[in-house]
Amino acid sequence: MENSTNKNKTNPMQNIDDWEDNLMERYPDPELPKKEKSEFRNYVDSERQDTVREFYRLNHQFQTYDFVCKKEDEFLQFNRKEMSLWDAVDFLNTLVDDSDPDIDLDQLQHLLQTSEAIRADGHPDWFVLTGFLHDVGKVLCLFDEPQWAVVGDTFPVGCKFSDKIVYPDFFEANPDSSNEKYNTKYGIYQPNCGLEHVKMSWGHDEYLYQIMKDYLPEPALYIIRYHSFYAQHRENAYAHLMNKKDIEMFEWVKTFNPYDLYTKAPIKPDVKKLKPYYEELVKKYLPEIIKF
Ligand SMILES: [Fe+2]
Ligand SMILES: [Fe+2]
Repeated sequence: MENSTNKNKTNPMQNIDDWEDNLMERYPDPELPKKEKSEFRNYVDSERQDTVREFYRLNHQFQTYDFVCKKEDEFLQFNRKEMSLWDAVDFLNTLVDDSDPDIDLDQLQHLLQTSEAIRADGHPDWFVLTGFLHDVGKVLCLFDEPQWAVVGDTFPVGCKFSDKIVYPDFFEANPDSSNEKYNTKYGIYQPNCGLEHVKMSWGHDEYLYQIMKDYLPEPALYIIRYHSFYAQHRENAYAHLMNKKDIEMFEWVKTFNPYDLYTKAPIKPDVKKLKPYYEELVKKYLPEIIKF
């Protein structure tokens, strides 16, 4: 059995969503002064911030081009589990949070708060569905993948790591930083080649995109695939790899981001009441059984 010290070394965060607190400090909600501040949890907690920093240290050190290829070979065979989407959400919800169960939302609540805010703004149904399932790829954690290979900001591999990525100094420990095949502005890519030709760091975004790619409209797929690519959708650091379609589609990624980041409220959605609506929606777009 793995001892708990080793486990903490690989998985420093108590809750896999603690990195999102760091995101909210980096990109505070512009509407926050208007909202009831007391409804939102207090993010300033230095101990948690340290574990997030350690998480990024591991992430930046180990997400190499070869690592991503290895994970693709391993997971894109989809031979781990067959589940309906609803079963996958229930499965994801078994992720144990050993930090603050009173304050932290479970995964289903985060998904529903995101999708319900999208629905309340009158967006198309595929957008609501995208909000509802966007983090289901986090089931990777339940397949025993380390936190740094499931969550966190994503970024291209195979070319220079941008200084605009959070904690850029940690990339010094990444072997690709000293590999001249990969450490130039374009690396193995061509100018404006389009993101479909660019490998991203491995995590829940790419994994779920690959699972959903035959079922959802293109903007939904962009949202799923690039929602953690903050270096682009917030910092515009990789426009030199994007083509015209990517630029257009990223408008959807940007529209989605505030629903993901700023909808966390302690009022828990009424799952029972909402379930019939989501069951219909899932049926409209997805097959009964999905391979993970
Ligand atoms: Fe996510
Ligand atoms: Fe999310």
